[in-house]
Amino acid sequence: MWSRNAFTERLDLKWPILQAPMGWLSTPALASAVSNAGGLGGLGMWGFSAQDAERRIAGFRQQSAGSLNVNYPLWPEPKITADASEAMRTRLQAHYDAKGLGAVPKPEGAASEVGREHLAMLLRAKPQVVSFHFGLPQPEVMQAIKSAGIFIISSATTVAEARILEERGVDAIIAQGTEAGGHRGTFTGVDMSMQPGLFALLPQVVDAVSVPVIAAGGVADGRTVAAAFMLGASAVQLGTAFLRCEEANVLDAHRAALREANDACTIVTDVITGRPARYIRNKLTDDLIASGLEPVAFPAQLSLTAPLGMTGDRDLTALFAGQSAALAKDTTAAVLVESLAEATSRRLGAFARP
Ligand SMILES: Cc1cc2nc3c(=O)[nH]c(=O)nc-3n(C[C@H](O)[C@H](O)[C@H](O)COP(=O)(O)O)c2cc1C
Repeated sequence: MWSRNAFTERLDLKWPILQAPMGWLSTPALASAVSNAGGLGGLGMWGFSAQDAERRIAGFRQQSAGSLNVNYPLWPEPKITADASEAMRTRLQAHYDAKGLGAVPKPEGAASEVGREHLAMLLRAKPQVVSFHFGLPQPEVMQAIKSAGIFIISSATTVAEARILEERGVDAIIAQGTEAGGHRGTFTGVDMSMQPGLFALLPQVVDAVSVPVIAAGGVADGRTVAAAFMLGASAVQLGTAFLRCEEANVLDAHRAALREANDACTIVTDVITGRPARYIRNKLTDDLIASGLEPVAFPAQLSLTAPLGMTGDRDLTALFAGQSAALAKDTTAAVLVESLAEATSRRLGAFARP
């Protein structure tokens, strides 16, 4: 049975289907519905204090007794320069003026790390999985999490990154193909134009490491899940498809854009947050790319672009999406997990028949 392996046994999953933890877009309602349906729900902790993170985990636990993946993106304090800030603020002012938003604010942003309070909270709450994006925390933090019996995952965008993660002691690796929505997980500065697609990356990562490999990027229906298993995956992680679920915290403008997405409507750019991520193209991405300006250091650039998204204008909103957005449907998380499992079983079953 395709759905039973060392990874599903270790985490007590009925289905090797992970809902990507997507910062504030992932909610306790979404993660608990996924885990209750037999997959692995994830809560992103981008920008959350330890207290709020603990509240989110408690929200999940009120609704599910299943396994939970708690996710931390990691980055250093942004080095904001006056030159980049002023040029970017001037460029964005026209968009702010058109929406009556006043003066573009001064950019701000802080480091994201698993500090003392977050670590103490994790050791108390003991989620089954802690995952990271953009690398791994310091060895002491890794050791403390591992000693608590928590399973550790992180994303790789190349074989070289997968090898580094394995050497540093992760329990499983996400192979993130360039099709993926959201930020590239690279932590070695891989050029965004050189990142491999999942079809090339996945089997090469599977060959290079001995831990289970989770496929991410463009996986969105039974055919793509089945293909990932054919290529050696032990599980799949879907982000964009879960954005279409009613439990996700997604702005109306973003939902409308996802509904109309096609195969060639997305672009990878660093102009929205300061770090490369994949979005549905719109006026904001086009204008900032055309400006030729360097974005302000990640994630401070987001403090300048985010207020535009709050106006509800789709042309000015950060429309995170992967290349398979059009394969997904408006649905609920339970229906999505169940239909993925059923369609994958059917698809793989067709190959098993004599
Ligand atoms: C809106 C959005 C936000 C994301 N935020 C995170 C995050 O905070 N942490 C993380 O590890 N991955 C994050 N990802 C990336 C996913 O883990 C995953 O690699 C990606 O969604 C897979 O590609 P797909 O979108 O085609 O399914 C995000 C993806 C999306 C679409």
